[in-house]
Amino acid sequence: METPKQTSTKEAPPISKCLFPAAGYGTRFLPATKATPKEMLPILTKPLIQYGVEEAMGSGIHTMAIVTGRGKRAIEDHFDISYELEHQIWGTPKEKQLADIRHIIDCCTFSYTRQKEMKGLGHAILTGETLIGNEPFAVILADDLCTHDGNGVIKQMIEVYREYRCSIVAIEEVPKEQTGKYGIVKCELIAGHDDIYRVSDMVEKPDPQDAPSNLAIIGRYILTPDIFEILKNTKPGKGGEIQITDALLAQAKKGNVIAYRFKGKRFDCGSIDGFVEATNYFYQK
Ligand code: UTP
Repeated sequence: METPKQTSTKEAPPISKCLFPAAGYGTRFLPATKATPKEMLPILTKPLIQYGVEEAMGSGIHTMAIVTGRGKRAIEDHFDISYELEHQIWGTPKEKQLADIRHIIDCCTFSYTRQKEMKGLGHAILTGETLIGNEPFAVILADDLCTHDGNGVIKQMIEVYREYRCSIVAIEEVPKEQTGKYGIVKCELIAGHDDIYRVSDMVEKPDPQDAPSNLAIIGRYILTPDIFEILKNTKPGKGGEIQITDALLAQAKKGNVIAYRFKGKRFDCGSIDGFVEATNYFYQK
């Protein structure tokens, strides 16, 4: 299988949109998530999804496409002006606490679509097709909170995409006993790199003895738009859900998926332990 490195001198199509699948129920945080979206849970004073939007902005993306569901309206309100509140605190020291979110609202456009039935991450991404259209795009799962000293993870991945022009998944090493929580890749390092791999196989949430490696896909992707057609033909997989891993496997079989071991740190804020760890980390900072 050939490594899909592009040698054409033509510019790679730009990545101008970021999709945020945010329709999941967040059952691990019940009862907090009964009426509040998981993506709105705060790490200190900022909701998880705002960290994700800021990461996308740091890579030059200003068009945010959000897949929501019932009970998620707080996300739309967060990325909108709150006239009454802003009027109330205008001219007081509290005004500066809204400076970051005002900047986001001024610089970005937000569009939303609803996933009517929660049929898995793959289905949520397919639901976003109407907002993305026929172009490569970034995906951020806001409950995976990533920090970095230099470039954000999505910016790092866009650089890899420019070179290979195929789907890119962010990976990290996980303890072998935790493979059952992730999509796990089988991959080979590309010559001359120590963090870029060609993917030949991937398995959703394998038991440790069946896992092809301990390299886990985290919640950052660059996807080429053919993924939508593949998703339309992807049958429900593990857990009866339409899995993005199964659709990516179809691309990987053609040599069209690169795994990138990102620089930075990830917190699994979809779990209580990861959420507490992130809170402590940002508080210390
Ligand atoms: P999770 O696997 O963390 O599921 O989804 P969840 O429902 O959010 O949380 P738990 O497991 O019940 O606590 C990973 C990402 O995919 C989105 C979620 O919103 C989250 O960002 N997702 C998942 C959807 O948008 N739709 C789905 O049908 C499933």
